[in-house]
Amino acid sequence: MTLYGLSVLPQLFILKRTDQNMYKIVRKKELNASVTLMEIEAPFVAKKAQAGQFIIFRIDEMGERVPLTIAGYDREKGTVTIIFQKVGFSTIALGNLNEGDYIRDFVGPLGKPTHTEGVKRVCVVGGGVGCAIALPSAAAFKEAGAEVDVIVGFRNKDIVILEDEFKAVSDNMYLMTDDGSYGEQGFVTVKLQQLLESGKEYDAVLAIGPIPMMKFVCKTTEPFGVKTMVSLNPIMIDGTGMCGGCRVTVGGETKFACVDGPEFDGHKVDFAELMSRNGTYRDREAEVNATHTCRMDAMGKALIK
Ligand code: NAD
Ligand code: FES
Repeated sequence: MTLYGLSVLPQLFILKRTDQNMYKIVRKKELNASVTLMEIEAPFVAKKAQAGQFIIFRIDEMGERVPLTIAGYDREKGTVTIIFQKVGFSTIALGNLNEGDYIRDFVGPLGKPTHTEGVKRVCVVGGGVGCAIALPSAAAFKEAGAEVDVIVGFRNKDIVILEDEFKAVSDNMYLMTDDGSYGEQGFVTVKLQQLLESGKEYDAVLAIGPIPMMKFVCKTTEPFGVKTMVSLNPIMIDGTGMCGGCRVTVGGETKFACVDGPEFDGHKVDFAELMSRNGTYRDREAEVNATHTCRMDAMGKALIK
């Protein structure tokens, strides 16, 4: 385990930078009421980042380590884009920061990139905030010369994100909403089923979104024998294969999402175990969110300006 972790260490860029030894937020954009885009100045990470990989950030020395899949990068500007949903203690605190503020750590790129080689026709399926991760992967397939269909799904029109960006990197883009308030009505799996039944052939499907969505995408593609990759988001701690926190069962074997993934063959993933493990700290998180007074709003924020 440790050896495996050590094998990826040379790829990491954990040196702190900027005048305050921290990472500057150079752009912030609210994509919808709960989803925020931030561009972070992190040239060493930007230099090596590829679609499908992730970073781990820490807001300050006391902060928890939070993994986020890379939503984009600009090697010339030396920036990495992250898109996150403000759901937990740390993502809410991050969302309270603004352009010009700094965060303490930004480690990456971690994990393996999206596998694009040999894929000529692909369908990328994104659900909700998972679309932020699906976008760079769709772009990577396009850049590698594949024909790219994209299916994106949202609960309703108000939370649709990245529509134009997906159109720009796909041959066909299908937008679904659960309530039919925009695009077509239905889950992403409804459209995927239609496409497969109509005779569409794909070398691979890549699904990124909530766990039930990824599970049902796999159930949809299984009868058609289409290889289906899913991007897993288990609890992570070190992100380098040493703690075992991100273990998932794939094809009966234990894998570490941080170094073996995060993308895996979805037909072999034990989704029930993943769901159960991801719920481990739900009560504790709710408790912390209910009782915590955010340091970033007051004194803490003034200190890192
Ligand atoms: P959501 O619940 O609003 O679902 C988004 C879309 O996914 C829906 O509109 C629907 O089209 C599809 N979907 C959902 N459940 C489905 C089902 N049972 N069958 C078929 N399709 C289904 O998504 P959200 O609230 O934006 O997502 C939040 C969740 O996504 C969080 O749990 C978060 O952890 C997870 N997430 C995962 C990743 C990842 O890397 N896999 C990345 C970001 C977020
Ligand atoms: Fe620790 Fe993967 S082994 S996060």
